[in-house]
Amino acid sequence: MKGEIPDRIKKEIEELVKELNYHCYRYYVLDSPVISDEEYDRLFRRLKELEEKYNYILPDSPTRRVGAPPLDKFEKVKHNEPMLSLDNAFNAKELMEFDRRIKRHLKTSREIQYTVEPKYDGLAIELTYEQGILVRASTRGDGYVGEDVTQNIKTIKSIPLRIEGTRRVPELIDIRGEVYMYIEDFEALNREREKEGESLFANPRNAAAGSVRQLDPSVTASRKLHLSCYGIGALKGMEFKSQWEFIQWLKEARFPVPYIVRLVTGIDEVIKAVKELEEKRNSLPFEADGAVVKVNDFSLQRALGVKTREPRWAIAYKFAAHQGTTVIKEILPSVGRTGVITPVAILEPVRIGGVTVSRSTLHNWDEIKRKDIRVGDTVVVERAGDVIPHVIMVIKDKRTGKEKVFPIPEKCPVCGAKVVRPEGEVAVRCVGLNCPAQAVERIKHFVSKGAMDIEGLGQKNVELLYSEGRIKHFTDLYRLKKEDILSLPRFAEKSAQNLIDAINRSKKTTLSRFLYALGILHVGEFTAKLLAKRFKKLEDLYNVSPEEILQIPQIGEKIATSVSQFFSDPENIKAIEELKSLGLKVENPDYEEGKEKRHRPLEGLTFVITGTLPEPRKEVEAKIEALGGHASSSVSRKTDYLVVGENPGSKLKKAQTLGVKTIDYNELVRMMEGE
Ligand code: IVH
Repeated sequence: MKGEIPDRIKKEIEELVKELNYHCYRYYVLDSPVISDEEYDRLFRRLKELEEKYNYILPDSPTRRVGAPPLDKFEKVKHNEPMLSLDNAFNAKELMEFDRRIKRHLKTSREIQYTVEPKYDGLAIELTYEQGILVRASTRGDGYVGEDVTQNIKTIKSIPLRIEGTRRVPELIDIRGEVYMYIEDFEALNREREKEGESLFANPRNAAAGSVRQLDPSVTASRKLHLSCYGIGALKGMEFKSQWEFIQWLKEARFPVPYIVRLVTGIDEVIKAVKELEEKRNSLPFEADGAVVKVNDFSLQRALGVKTREPRWAIAYKFAAHQGTTVIKEILPSVGRTGVITPVAILEPVRIGGVTVSRSTLHNWDEIKRKDIRVGDTVVVERAGDVIPHVIMVIKDKRTGKEKVFPIPEKCPVCGAKVVRPEGEVAVRCVGLNCPAQAVERIKHFVSKGAMDIEGLGQKNVELLYSEGRIKHFTDLYRLKKEDILSLPRFAEKSAQNLIDAINRSKKTTLSRFLYALGILHVGEFTAKLLAKRFKKLEDLYNVSPEEILQIPQIGEKIATSVSQFFSDPENIKAIEELKSLGLKVENPDYEEGKEKRHRPLEGLTFVITGTLPEPRKEVEAKIEALGGHASSSVSRKTDYLVVGENPGSKLKKAQTLGVKTIDYNELVRMMEGE
């Protein structure tokens, strides 16, 4: 029938394909569409109508992305050039060794130029273009032979079906990249699967791989997949001089490339670039498990060649892993200094990013219920930076039926007192006034770093001093004599003297530290600083009324009441006076006499919050406003900072697109404190 198709129809079809592909690129690669969705749909329908009527379908027609029938199995594909893997480096020293090896091999002492790219944690894919048309997409497989996933890959809209946007189109090119999923989309997918009673994906990489390796392309099409291109296989009819030039060409040819590619000289700059990427890692909307360092110059790459399965010219610097899988051996209720009982999971020890993790907080019973965590469950545990590890999810497929639900205890596991759950709170509390667990925890808090900072008095030693009856309250610390400590296991002459010296040193402190050390309910370091700015002396707080405290703009009812109650309790005043008689000296360098009392370090700045912060979002927003800032709910060019919490949402991506600065909660607190 082709002969009968009028030229103007052919031309219209060709133009429609070109135009639609361009809009696909604007939308999916640049994230900056120039036409409305309705207009796109209108053009798409018109193309489909013409294609059906004249049976004239171009190989790069966007209508070809969907509608392929399910397969029985994947065909095998032999790669034109093997898809290699990468050697790993886990620290700066190993990167330096990599650089030395390269220089030795090239017999040069000149500094080498490298590219540094994020290592996307997904599924490696090869796209083969012949005369500019995508003819095949395959998985890596064993590196030599992979699986043909062309129909599935075509459903990913950011992948060009034809190389356009450049005059330089090779006869043949294999483009390699990583298919990945945004964390947010992975979580939404898992939520949906949970509702449907389907098994969950353990992480975004498995979700991406599972979505590509689907016999039914319509399933792949329903998943939100992305691609990042970074490598080259066979190439005919064209040449690139370097990785940098290749990346520039990819961009011109409308391929999605890593969100950042750095070109640097010398290994010191590589190390700097790699560290910078690692710092950004937690604020990215996708998982990056490392950085890939490549010799930039292709002629040097060729000279270096390949050792068995890995090229000598590239290395993957692995970031500290932050997830692992293990089993919950038991759950223990742990009592904190304010009586809050927290369930703690005791884990089969697992190494995550070089650290052995054997316990993890489960936060509270609502969380246990929501995640349906049981004793005996196999779970995914995450450790991010210095943060306490937490259980992400249960792998329900691994259940045997022997797992046990862990109920809220009826009595305090330490003192046996009643347990209450105040209305509207998730916390479960022990009401025992003399609960030893609370007493020990209060002492631990008192001596901790941000508080009295008594060096050498860690958690274990506090427990020891308490269980051996040397201290019952933090005031007893200042009555300790060397002999009291010397008789304890683990202490000798020198260590006992060191501890006494450290205790004596801590007697001189600041008001904000001391207020924090007292462990007043709801008074963290930030609030303690605010109080110290307003009140000149410790004694000015004795019998303070809630109204006086409420004059501090950043402090609300709950905190004011708690502080006032604390300082109107004669027992507490007695303890403070005792400390003073034992030599405590509290100074107040934070006091702002005569100065404008209103402290507005965030004046004129607009903040947006995404994800979960350690404090309720409403309270953080109120603090921002009280300190002169503005808290908004959506990101725009006017946003100064995006505060990124746990499990950030789409605002993060938007902020990155607009170049809005992102900060974490700790950074925000520092700004609030005017640092
Ligand atoms: S280059 C011969 N660059 O990491 C070098 N790989 O552990 C081939 N990956 O199989 C790989 N991001 O699946 C390269 N920017 C990047 C990458 C990257 C992710 C994956 C890829 C590779 C694996 C090696």
